[in-house]
Amino acid sequence: MIKFDQVTKTYEKVQALKDVSMEIHKSEFISLVGQSGAGKSTLIRLIIGEERPDSGRILIDDIDVANINRRDIPYLRRKIGVVFQDIKLLPKRTAFENVAFALEVAGEKLSVIKKEVPKILELVGLKDKAKAFPDEMSGGEMQRIAIARSLVHKPVLLLADEPTGNLDSINAWDIVQLLLKINKQGTTVILATHAKDLVNSIKKRVVTIEQGEVVYDQQTKGKYVL
Ligand SMILES: Nc1ncnc2c1ncn2[C@@H]1O[C@H](COP(=O)(O)OP(=O)(O)OP(=O)(O)O)[C@@H](O)[C@H]1O
Ligand SMILES: [Mg+2]
Repeated sequence: MIKFDQVTKTYEKVQALKDVSMEIHKSEFISLVGQSGAGKSTLIRLIIGEERPDSGRILIDDIDVANINRRDIPYLRRKIGVVFQDIKLLPKRTAFENVAFALEVAGEKLSVIKKEVPKILELVGLKDKAKAFPDEMSGGEMQRIAIARSLVHKPVLLLADEPTGNLDSINAWDIVQLLLKINKQGTTVILATHAKDLVNSIKKRVVTIEQGEVVYDQQTKGKYVL
């Protein structure tokens, strides 16, 4: 589903990724680990076409993201959901409206929005918070709304860059459980994280990067090795 073929990315003088080759299959759950500055976010930015590699190919299904046409990026982005550490919800909109907004901007019909949003809120376990504003929600709840929002286009791939970074361990674990549930429904998930204990309890594939290179790729029951 995703193939990195000898991908190198340099920012000015920093080589953020060096000759990275790996394949990610449909419905896999991958924890992407490595120290600060290892290249995790760079890898994610390359997948969504936000950055381009200096050399190498990045294939997502049939799309070569490394050489993607600017006008095809919106099509790519609909296939991919993304969540970050800093949760940017619209402060003056409710949980329901925050999720609905992602569909509105895509030009979705009101009837579809009214039908789909409650289903997604149910999936993330926050149906009862539909009318709550962000400042009435906990950090974990806000992150679950951000995840809900990332799922509106039923992406085949969900990228989560340090989604638990600002959460306490109980909320962090809830977010991981939610990501596992989404993965179980068939979505490929890549979780970039520092959270050693979380990664060790997930017991799925773990890819470790160090100074821009993949140094370990444990296919099953992976552990955080650094
Ligand atoms: N826009 C940029 N301009 C210049 N250098 C950058 C830029 N973005 C990242 N870098 C550098 O590239 C390297 C990889 O950064 P990246 O953000 O991918 O690391 P990371 O593994 O996500 O780290 P963290 O765990 O702190 O989020 C680092 O040395 C970083 O300083
Ligand atoms: Mg990062």
